[in-house]
Amino acid sequence: MAIRWSVFVCMILLSWLLLIFITSATAATTSPYVRRPARGPVSLGRLFGPTAVEDVQQVHASLAGPNHMRVSWISVNTGIPSIVEYGTASGSYDSVATGDSTSYTFVFYTSGQIHNVVIGPLKDNTVYYYRCGGVSLEFRLRTPPPLGPHVPVKFTVVGDLGQTGWTTSTLDHIQQSEYDVLLFAGDLSYADYYEPLWDSFGRMVEPLASRRPWMVTEGNHEIEEIPFFIAPFRSYNARWLMPYAESGSTSNLFYSFEVGSAHVLMLGSYTSYVLGSPQYEWLQDDLAKVDRSKTPWLIAVLHAPWYSSNWAHRGDGAAMMAAMEPLLKEARVDIVIAGHVHAYERTTRVFLGMIDPCGIHHITIGDGGNREGLARSFRSPQPAWSVFREASFGHGNLNILNATHAFWCWHRNEDEEPVLADHIYFTTLSAPSNECSCASETLGKTSSTIEIGDAATLSEM
Ligand SMILES: [Fe+2]
Repeated sequence: MAIRWSVFVCMILLSWLLLIFITSATAATTSPYVRRPARGPVSLGRLFGPTAVEDVQQVHASLAGPNHMRVSWISVNTGIPSIVEYGTASGSYDSVATGDSTSYTFVFYTSGQIHNVVIGPLKDNTVYYYRCGGVSLEFRLRTPPPLGPHVPVKFTVVGDLGQTGWTTSTLDHIQQSEYDVLLFAGDLSYADYYEPLWDSFGRMVEPLASRRPWMVTEGNHEIEEIPFFIAPFRSYNARWLMPYAESGSTSNLFYSFEVGSAHVLMLGSYTSYVLGSPQYEWLQDDLAKVDRSKTPWLIAVLHAPWYSSNWAHRGDGAAMMAAMEPLLKEARVDIVIAGHVHAYERTTRVFLGMIDPCGIHHITIGDGGNREGLARSFRSPQPAWSVFREASFGHGNLNILNATHAFWCWHRNEDEEPVLADHIYFTTLSAPSNECSCASETLGKTSSTIEIGDAATLSEM
């Protein structure tokens, strides 16, 4: 009898421990980490880097259609030609490409000569050495992996970068990660009508942006409109030309590109997105061309988040979400990446405000390090669709592993080290194991369809 009683007590204890484990494993998380105050502006040494006194400065690269890249830079001397010499051996340039240049005025400011040169065709996964204008220092860049449904590709993801001490931490941490392409969810320089800050931003990011393609979309800080005098996005469009023409778009404010096994939509939160608008119609056409057997991953990047439980900028993305969320859901977009809110947050699959196994993972990552500081105040209780949230500066890495799985991690800036603070394995909605059937919404969902570590998904069960 005593033995039976002991077994009964043990079972009660085990059940109690199991309950505690399940409860702790399935709860949504608001990180208790408390970020220290924002750092001051970045040092002058960082802004006026080694190329600041050269005729060629602010060099950055971007993808420009299959096997081509665009090299952009600004020259102080107007006599510099728009040419890029390049080759696969240092100091030996066996190819040369010619582009064009422009400049713009902004009240009393006149920009340097802004050059854009498309180089290629280029080999995949290859280091190229290049020189701009026939006079610059030598730069080097690595081309991304080839297109293919099983091809791994590594994205680094950042938003709302600005030019502070935290920005330089973020850039230093990004430099440590071996990425192929950088995705920038808007709010780049925080120039905010003071144009020399665009130049200092270009010099600050040059060491990274000249080595890998930086693919950007615009935020509200890029608008810089003066009604009846200066059109919106004058500086941004002149300085950060993206492959909109190459992707059939009519505007630099929205475009797409493909790399590895991913089709990436770069959308505009501050240009019309309603039914019938140029952006909406382009998006419909672009999505119709996506072949998930070739690019199983479908990712969208925009600025104002559709799902954020932060009090900051609440509702800023609501109108765009109302216009475009059904279209992206219908297309089975896997992940939407946004900036704008200066904090980090990740959702489970969600649609129309409800957890939905066929919905989209949303990531807010407007925490690059800008001068406005962090958005520390989150709504309470944490919405069911919000899996993890924290008000810290940092950056993300999206490593697409194959045609079905990708590893996402967000690194919090901690002193000089990037600290992994959130991570998850995503499965693409195009994967055979993720059929979005009614059965997958129930308790009958198999383990193979559950995102590993996704606490909110597990809590539904
Ligand atoms: Fe913003």
